[in-house]
Amino acid sequence: MKISIFGLGYVGAVSLACLARDGHEVIGVDIDQTKLDLIRDGKTPVVEEGMVDLMQSVVASGRVSVTTDAVHAVLNSDISLVCVGTPSAANGSQDQGAVLRLADSMGQAIRGKTTPHVVVFRSTLVPGTVEDVLRPIIEAGSGKKDGEGFHLCFQPEFLREGSSIRDYDKPPFTVVGANHSYPIERLKELFGHLPCKFLQTSVRSAEMMKYCCNNFHALKITFANETARLCEALGVNPFEVMDLVCQDTQLNISRAYLMPGFAFGGSCLPKDLRATTYLAKKHDVEIPMLAGIMPSNRNHVDLAIERILATGKRKVGFIGLSFKTGTDDLRESPLVTLAEQLIGKGVHLSVYDPEVHLSRLLGANKSFIERHVPHIGELLNADVEEVIKTSEVLVLGLSTPSIQDALATHVRDDQYVLDLVGIKSKASIQGRVQGLCW
Ligand SMILES: NC(=O)c1ccc[n+]([C@@H]2O[C@H](COP(=O)([O-])OP(=O)(O)OC[C@H]3O[C@@H](n4cnc5c(N)ncnc54)[C@H](O)[C@@H]3O)[C@@H](O)[C@H]2O)c1
Repeated sequence: MKISIFGLGYVGAVSLACLARDGHEVIGVDIDQTKLDLIRDGKTPVVEEGMVDLMQSVVASGRVSVTTDAVHAVLNSDISLVCVGTPSAANGSQDQGAVLRLADSMGQAIRGKTTPHVVVFRSTLVPGTVEDVLRPIIEAGSGKKDGEGFHLCFQPEFLREGSSIRDYDKPPFTVVGANHSYPIERLKELFGHLPCKFLQTSVRSAEMMKYCCNNFHALKITFANETARLCEALGVNPFEVMDLVCQDTQLNISRAYLMPGFAFGGSCLPKDLRATTYLAKKHDVEIPMLAGIMPSNRNHVDLAIERILATGKRKVGFIGLSFKTGTDDLRESPLVTLAEQLIGKGVHLSVYDPEVHLSRLLGANKSFIERHVPHIGELLNADVEEVIKTSEVLVLGLSTPSIQDALATHVRDDQYVLDLVGIKSKASIQGRVQGLCW
């Protein structure tokens, strides 16, 4: 394929070398003449394992050329990969200067093309940039429509500096955000042979997931480092601890606990986080990330309170009260906190939870609920149908097949359902179903 690559930094230079190695004809474009001169001479503009030899051989093959002329590059290629830098501005926002200027030149270049051109944004871009910012610029410049005269898509780049050629050849996956099949098929021709999944999604999800991946990496590093700081103070070997933590691939290094939903609670996580934070304080160890978890969890409960009060309704029915499905443990259940707050605001509550029976509650569980919602007995109702029918707003804190059936059968058009669990059967419910933040 004939490919133009805009921006010959770490991402662009490695992509240029690997694509040329794979037999494609590649035109490299940059505004930095020094980088172009280096490549023209068969040298690498970035220090990366394997790049010296690879660049020398692909330039010698005659499949690589370089230019500062964006129009020439677009006219002489079928597909453009945009890899220009998107650094931080002074206020922390993304500096999109380079990509905005490039979109403008790209639009002008596409105006003169007779064949459909594919533009693949590979630079990391804040969600919404491709569709709301870059597309209008390219459409105005080219006088053509996305999906007709040209095709825009977003393909996040996952390579890591230092191992970028190896990462290029073995990425975790290929993700493409696109609205049409044409660019997907072209990208399959370029990357479909790689030993990984090829996933298609919306442009916005592809933009956002790149941020999520980097945030998750940063979160993991900080987790290990905060743990190490605390371990040192306690005379514990942090390498041993983190090695053990990582050996649990069921609950720790897994998909577990990574679905959006309601706040966490229960008899373990809050108390153990509190104890950890206290321990750190006692030893003068700063752990701002771990210490920030409980306040963030509370923000999630506050959001639910806001959403319920915003309906202006005063008769609220809870489906679920315990901290998770399948247990009657009410200790530190975020739904109990929610109930407590709503009662304080004068909301009339009724509660259905198939596992919670007042007469069977014992010990710490019983004393917890008696302390937080003293007249819980008057609120509990074993009849889900009655709770649904007598409420203006339903708060869905658990979702079992029988609850889904009851909701599908009894919820009316005039009722609100605040979904805290991400129900799959939303379409079968008559009322106005609103996810907590989805
Ligand atoms: N570096 C990484 O490991 C990595 C990994 C994944 C994603 N990314 C993302 O990829 C993008 C590029 O990162 P990088 O580290 O390769 O950047 P870089 O700063 O090393 O290179 C960017 C290049 O773009 C060039 N450029 C600027 N304006 C241009 C224009 N109008 N036309 C042509 N070239 C232009 C610059 O001269 C520079 O050579 C960023 O959005 C980054 O967040 C980087």
